[in-house]
Amino acid sequence: MKVAVLGAAGGIGQALSLLLKIQLPAGSELSLYDVAPVVPGVAVDLSHIPTDVKVTGFGKDDLATALTGCDIVLIPAGVPRKPGMDRSDLFNINAGIVKNLIEACADNCPDACIGVITNPVNTTVAIAAETLKAKGVYNKNKLFGITTLDVIRSETFIAELKGKSTSDVHVPVIGGHSGTTILPLLSQVKGITFTDEEVASLTPRIQNAGTEVVTAKAGGGSATLSMGQAAARFCLSLVAAMQGKDVIEYTYVQVDGSEDAAFFAHPVRLGKHGVEEILPYGELSAFEQKAKEEMLDGLRNDIKMGVDYVNS
Ligand code: NAD
Ligand code: LMR
Repeated sequence: MKVAVLGAAGGIGQALSLLLKIQLPAGSELSLYDVAPVVPGVAVDLSHIPTDVKVTGFGKDDLATALTGCDIVLIPAGVPRKPGMDRSDLFNINAGIVKNLIEACADNCPDACIGVITNPVNTTVAIAAETLKAKGVYNKNKLFGITTLDVIRSETFIAELKGKSTSDVHVPVIGGHSGTTILPLLSQVKGITFTDEEVASLTPRIQNAGTEVVTAKAGGGSATLSMGQAAARFCLSLVAAMQGKDVIEYTYVQVDGSEDAAFFAHPVRLGKHGVEEILPYGELSAFEQKAKEEMLDGLRNDIKMGVDYVNS
């Protein structure tokens, strides 16, 4: 398994690379790319950890080499939020970064599964899809917006609230990855019931958890360590699925014929070639149905911005 992290010298990139160095199967390769000159040093640093995962760092002129032969590419390259910003405020800078990196993926590893982390995810995934289409190599089963952070946050907050072990709490989160487009399905959490008041306070807590971190970091960026863990979980699930295990993760993918939006986080059965099956997200409570209806126009508009960016 060869995995590339693009933006590997950043806050997410370093945490994610560390977790992958420790947890990828023996014999894997980790390819670290960044425009920041420190990236070869990050690779040397990680390479001193005794696991059977080979780590190589690539500087800004070596993107093609970094990507050649990759099975999975993870993209946290780009600018994070500062207090007072929405994720959509990152569009002007991050759209171009994602488009350029995806073009390089199309040229150098067109069969790789690609996980986009760079915000605004609702839009950058659409940019990635349109860029791959323009290059003639788009495979909707191999492009993912990584929304796992919403899942792990939900699990943590609910376990804390209900006095449970986090390993016993599994929370479906559908929709997108921004504000109200993040829709945790608390009605479907097995073995736990919530009062109306709990649903009314937990739902916005989960939706605004990113802002909670941005505010607490006071200008020093957004979630990096929890996102590193979330992306590592998603990547390792994908690796396990590519090696034949039956794995389901919630992730933001293209959903053909969806009445919701062209891209929507669903439960997805992963397999050897990426998406094996997009599963239905099941019945929603009246609260969740209303929340979904109210956010759909915003999510569709976020997606349209990405499509228009590449095609205009
Ligand atoms: P950071 O500033 O710490 O790191 C970003 C890295 O990207 C830097 O090392 C920078 O040099 C690099 N970079 C910039 N342009 C590049 C390019 N063209 N090619 C390669 N590398 C490039 O930021 P961070 O905290 O790691 O966040 C990165 C992105 O992830 C942000 O857009 C942030 O909003 C997003 N994010 C997404 C989620 C999610 O749930 N999907 C969660 C947290 C953060
Ligand atoms: C998050 O959810 O933490 C990330 O999307 C980063 C952010 O800007 O909130």
